[in-house]
Amino acid sequence: MYSEKVMDHFTNPRNVGEIEDASGVGTVGNAKCGDIMRIYLDIDENHIIKDCKFKTFGCGAAVATSSMATELVMGKTIEDALKVTNKAVMEALDGLPPAKVHCSLLAEEAIHAALWDYAQKNGIEIEGLEQPKSDIHEDEEEEEEY
Ligand code: FES
Repeated sequence: MYSEKVMDHFTNPRNVGEIEDASGVGTVGNAKCGDIMRIYLDIDENHIIKDCKFKTFGCGAAVATSSMATELVMGKTIEDALKVTNKAVMEALDGLPPAKVHCSLLAEEAIHAALWDYAQKNGIEIEGLEQPKSDIHEDEEEEEEY
């Protein structure tokens, strides 16, 4: 039911971990299943994503899509990273079963949340980026004790 690429990224996820002093961090939760995703971005002065890591308390499809999403945004400008949609990630993975499509949204939303965090910290605006709705703030998250 899963493509080989999905299985590969699930069993051997790329870029798992954290970035200390990251330029932007985004944490989002999936209301449907309660899974949580956090993305760390390291962005240089030319607005290029130098490094990207993720951590998830999520299902296999969420792990695979996040892994692929980190690979896709690496080396891109923040504007181009914004164009990495969940659809693009799914295509890169040769598709996901319909019931798992919502899982791929976690990665997209977490990247947007991390970009938003970066923009806020640096007082800049990223064209086309809207404030992420499902960003979970640090203090709320602690209360959840996941
Ligand atoms: Fe929760 Fe996939 S079931 S992210």
